[in-house]
Parts: sequence; C-alpha cells; structure tokens
Amino acid sequence: MPQPRIPGRIPGDQLFFGRRKGRPLRAGMQVLVDERLPQLAVPADFAGDPRGWFGRPVRAVWLEIGFGGGEHLAWQAKNHPDVGIVGCEPFVNGVASLLRHVDNDGLDNVRIHADDARPLVAALPAGSLERIFVLHPDPWPKRRHHFRRLIQHASVARFHELLAPGGELRIATDDPGYLTWILGRVTAHPGLRWTGTRLADWRTRPADWPETRYESKGRAEGRPPAYMRFVKV
Ligand SMILES: C[S@@+](CC[C@H](N)C(=O)[O-])C[C@H]1O[C@@H](n2cnc3c(N)ncnc32)[C@H](O)[C@@H]1O
Repeated sequence: MPQPRIPGRIPGDQLFFGRRKGRPLRAGMQVLVDERLPQLAVPADFAGDPRGWFGRPVRAVWLEIGFGGGEHLAWQAKNHPDVGIVGCEPFVNGVASLLRHVDNDGLDNVRIHADDARPLVAALPAGSLERIFVLHPDPWPKRRHHFRRLIQHASVARFHELLAPGGELRIATDDPGYLTWILGRVTAHPGLRWTGTRLADWRTRPADWPETRYESKGRAEGRPPAYMRFVKV
C-alpha cells in the first residue's frame, strides 16, 4: 500500500538521516515541542521571503542545516540579534533542546523546520540567505551510502544560488574521507571561494564559531575538526 504523503516530506527521506527520535522526551521538553514549536515553525509551504517569517524586522537570514542540540544556532541568534536564523533538524530531541535554549535565552529571532532540510532548501528564493551552516553533517562512510551525503555537487550549486552576493557557506567535519569529498565538491564550484590563506586555517576555529556538541565529542575522541568558510564571489 502506498505510504501517506506528508507535505514537505520527500518519499524515502528516512534514508538520509539517522533518526527522528531518541530517548523519550521529559515532560517539560514535550511541552516545549507541543506548545512552542508551532509558534516558532516556518510556514508549512515555505512561501515568501524568509525575512518575513520572523515576528519583527531582521536585516538578513541565516540557515543552519542539521543543528543537532541547537547550541551553535542559539549562540549565533543571541550574538546576532539583527539576523533571523532558520534551523532545520528532524531529530525531535535536538529540536526540544533548541527550544529550551530559545526560551532560556529569550531569543526572538529563531524559526524552526523540524524536519528534512531539503524541501526548504529547494523552496527558498535565490539570494535569500546571508549565511548557511552545515556543521558536522553525517559522514555516511560506506561507499554505497555516499549518495546520502548532504554535500553533493547539486546541493553546493543550490547553496550558491541561495546565498546573497558576499554570503558565506560554513561547513565543518572531523571525518577525513568526508573532508576530501566536501573540498572536491565545493572547490569545484567557480562561484565559491575558500576564505583561508594557509592550511592551518582549517584547524583554527573562528571566534564567532562556537563548538558544537558533536565537535566536542569528536575532539575528545581524537578527531579534530576542519572548519571551512567559503564566500560567494
Ligand atoms: C552528526 S550530527 C551533527 C549535529 C550538530 N550540527 C553538531 O555539530 O553537533 C548531524 C545532524 O544532521 C541532521 N540531519 C541529517 N540529515 C538532515 C537533513 N536532510 N536535514 C536536516 N538535518 C539533517 C541529523 O539529524 C543530525 O542531528
């Protein structure tokens, strides 16, 4: 029997990310998901200029794909109140964690798509984003799973299209195989320029790039990350 079609969801999308649910949410976190998420959700049809999705004027919009526990997104929102930040994450425990950051920090410049980023990325208007963050995307190390990697020639071309002139794409990974893959795809795009001047720049975390949960875990296990910043030229 065909599966019911959920708007904005790609058939077979569960192939592309690890899981939607982890440990059962504690009661307080469930309340956040039930009550706060609908207030902060992006429009179901992703329609219009995303600057209009926030309850007040914002200078520009940034997008974080796969925000995990949301600590990086919340930091950016707190430190850049003039910007609206849209976060995508299908893992409900991570969404609850971001909602807690939003409420604890009193953030009014965050909007959430609690699902696969790809339909939103496909729908946004060209030039509508000033920054895109893809921090520690799942590396899918087996060759037969490489098609699931978020960074592909096509997604890089789409990120380039979505960025405003001078906009920035930030990617991090601690997986050497994925690093080579990412560099191959991003540097192949003539419209994106690496901002570094020497190899050591990959290993130096910029001051406005707080550590993510996944990053600190990887570092503790002996996997230092590469920090990549590319500018739309
Ligand atoms: C390895 S974790 C990294 C999380 C976080 N960025 C960090 O650094 O701690 C990758 C995250 O990307 C999310 N993800 C994977 N595919 C995604 C997609 N298509 N759209 C949105 N998020 C996705 C996963 O659910 C997971 O939380």
